[in-house]
Amino acid sequence: MVELTLPKNSRMTAGKTWPKPTGATNVRAFRIYRFDPDTGENPRVDTYHVDMDKCGPMILDALIKIKNEIDPTLTFRRSCREGICGSCAMNIDGINTLACIYGLDEVKGDVKIYPLPHMPVVKDLIPDLTHFYAQHASIMPWLETKTNKPATEWRQSIDDRKKLDGLYECVMCACCSTSCPSYWWNGDRYLGPAALLHAYRWIIDSRDEATGERLDELQDPFKLYRCHTIMNCAKTCPKGLNPAKAIAEIKKKMVERTM
Ligand code: SF4
Ligand code: SF4
Ligand code: FES
Repeated sequence: MVELTLPKNSRMTAGKTWPKPTGATNVRAFRIYRFDPDTGENPRVDTYHVDMDKCGPMILDALIKIKNEIDPTLTFRRSCREGICGSCAMNIDGINTLACIYGLDEVKGDVKIYPLPHMPVVKDLIPDLTHFYAQHASIMPWLETKTNKPATEWRQSIDDRKKLDGLYECVMCACCSTSCPSYWWNGDRYLGPAALLHAYRWIIDSRDEATGERLDELQDPFKLYRCHTIMNCAKTCPKGLNPAKAIAEIKKKMVERTM
């Protein structure tokens, strides 16, 4: 039987508590944010109990088990299950990260799972990333060239290629941008760490021929300069990248071009 419990937050609806699996001796509770705009109800936090002896090692394994065996209405994004597609980003125990590469043993006690913070929610753990992707598109995330196309390929030296390390690995999961206080308050105009990391990735690509235009576009009090080096982005990135450093490098380029 499903029990109803009312969270202290009065703006939320009473959450459901699902029964513990019978016969299981190693059970863990998962408190998961639920919201379905089609119902017109406020969000709630449901509690599920999972038999850990029959569950894989990652948070995503538990979510899939809950969806398959307990509640098929639980909604979340996932695809690759190996930290490559970036789609399973969510807030786990207060940390923005990828559910498929975050171990269950990294969380103590009950596992609390929410959607990425400060984003509109489409349903349950799925944030609306429309604006986030539009900001990414705005930095022209492609090679922009003016000279004639080479017969075979745009070549790059090994040293120039190395400059892209620490940047090209970004999987656009949005963990960094949604952990950034400046992005929370000014996300409509501040591009945020993910889009700016990508902007820098193309600015320093030796093959790109639009560096001036790219910097001109970013010369704006909001798009770039709302970064206050709080460093949440670097701390949370599940791929170990450092968007704050990339942002600092863009600011350095802005200064250099005036000298
Ligand atoms: S360093 Fe900049 S981009 Fe990163 S969290 Fe802080 S303000 Fe946001
Ligand atoms: S920099 Fe890291 S946290 Fe930000 S979008 Fe890329 S992979 Fe995700
Ligand atoms: S499912 Fe692809 S990154 Fe987690």
